[in-house]
Amino acid sequence: MTIDHANSASLAAKAKMRVPFGTVSITDEAKQLINAAIDAKWLTRGKYVQAFEEKFAELFGVKYAVSVSSGTDADALACAALYDEGAARGDEIIVPALSFVASGNAVLQAGLTPVFVDVRRDTLNIDPDKIEAAITSKTRAIMPVHLMGKPADMDQIMAIARQHKLLVIEDAAEAHGAEYRGKKIGTFGRMAAYSLYAAHIVTSIEGGMVTTNDQKLRDVLISLRNHGIDGKFTAKRVGFSAKMNELEAAVGLGNIKIFDQILGKRRRNLLYLIDKFKIFEPYFIFLKEEPYEKIGPHAFHIIVREGLPFSKDQLVAQIEAAGIDSRNLFYSIPTQCPSYAFLGHKLGDFPEAEFCSDHGTHIGIHQDIELADLDYVAEVVGKFIKKMNTGI
Ligand SMILES: Cc1ncc(COP(=O)(O)O)c(C=O)c1O
Repeated sequence: MTIDHANSASLAAKAKMRVPFGTVSITDEAKQLINAAIDAKWLTRGKYVQAFEEKFAELFGVKYAVSVSSGTDADALACAALYDEGAARGDEIIVPALSFVASGNAVLQAGLTPVFVDVRRDTLNIDPDKIEAAITSKTRAIMPVHLMGKPADMDQIMAIARQHKLLVIEDAAEAHGAEYRGKKIGTFGRMAAYSLYAAHIVTSIEGGMVTTNDQKLRDVLISLRNHGIDGKFTAKRVGFSAKMNELEAAVGLGNIKIFDQILGKRRRNLLYLIDKFKIFEPYFIFLKEEPYEKIGPHAFHIIVREGLPFSKDQLVAQIEAAGIDSRNLFYSIPTQCPSYAFLGHKLGDFPEAEFCSDHGTHIGIHQDIELADLDYVAEVVGKFIKKMNTGI
C-alpha cells in the first residue's frame, strides 16, 4: 500500500532538512473510500462512520467508540454524559493545569466547572499528590491528560478516584497507542476522549472519538452528539451537534490500516531522539519513557532547565531559523490563558505548569520524519549550546 504524505520527507528534504511539526497520511484505500462515498451520494453518518467506530473500538480494546466532530467535542460530550450519572450543572471536574486549552474549554462547554491541579515538570502530567486537595463535595470526575502521549500516573489516579467515588475520563487526544503497565491507555477510565485532528496517529483530518465499555454511556453519547435527541425527535438532554461525516470516516479507516506502521515509526523516532538528547541532559528536561510504560508519541518536548546562560526563546529562535518547526509547550490554562481570568487565579498559583510553559517548546517526531532529520535536530541543538558557551 502506498502512503501519500501531505508533508512528506521528500518535501522536508527539498526544504533543506526542514523538520515540519505535523503530518497526515492519506492512504490509497482512503481515497477509494472517499470516492465511493461521494458516488453513493450519502455523505453524512453512514456505513463508513459505523465501520470506523467498530474498527477504532477494536484497535483500542474497548466495546464501544462513538465518533464526534473533534477531540474537544469528545472531551465535552464525555463530561456532559456525567449528567446521566447524577451530576448537576456547575459540578466540578479535576483537570491538569498544563494542557492544550481544549481540555479546560470542553469542561466549560459541557456546563461544568474545571478545577485545575498543577502538573509535574518531569512527566508534564497531573501531579497525583495534589489531586486530593482539590476534591470538594461537588467533584464528579478526574480528567487526566496523557500529554505528548506519555501516560499519566494511572495507578494513583485510579486509587484516588475509587476512594472518593469519582469517575475518570481520560483525555487520550495525544496518546493513541500508549500503554501503562501493559494496559492500553484509554481503558482505565469509564470513558476516554481522542482527538483525530491531523497531527495525531489515527486521524480523520478533523474528528474525535469517545470510547467506553458501558452501553448506557454509549447510548447517552450517541444522543449527545445529535442535539440530545433519543429515537426520532425527542430531545432528552441538552446536546451538541457533533457528528462525523463519511469522508472523514473514510480517511480514518485508511489510517487505522496503517496504525502499526505509523506508531512504529513514531516510536522509533522518539527512542532515537531520546538517545541523541542524553548528552543534553544538563540543559533540558525532555520526554522520557519509563520501563513500565509505552509512549504513544505525539511530539517531543524540550524544557530549558533553570540557571542556564540561555533562554527558551533563544533556543526556539535558533531551531526555527534552522527550519525546525516548533510550538510552545502549551500554557497553564488557569493563569496564562486570559480567557480563564474569570476563575480568579493569579500567576504563581500553578508554578510547575507555568514553568513548563515559560521554559518549554515541542517539536515533531511524526512518521514523515527520518533519522537524518533527527540527527539534524541534535546537531542544531548541539551547536546552539556550544554557541551559548556552556562548555560541551
Ligand atoms: C490534550 C488535548 N485535548 C484535546 C484536544 C482537542 O482536540 P481537537 O483539536 O481535535 O478538538 C487536543 C488537540 O490536539 C489535545 O492535544
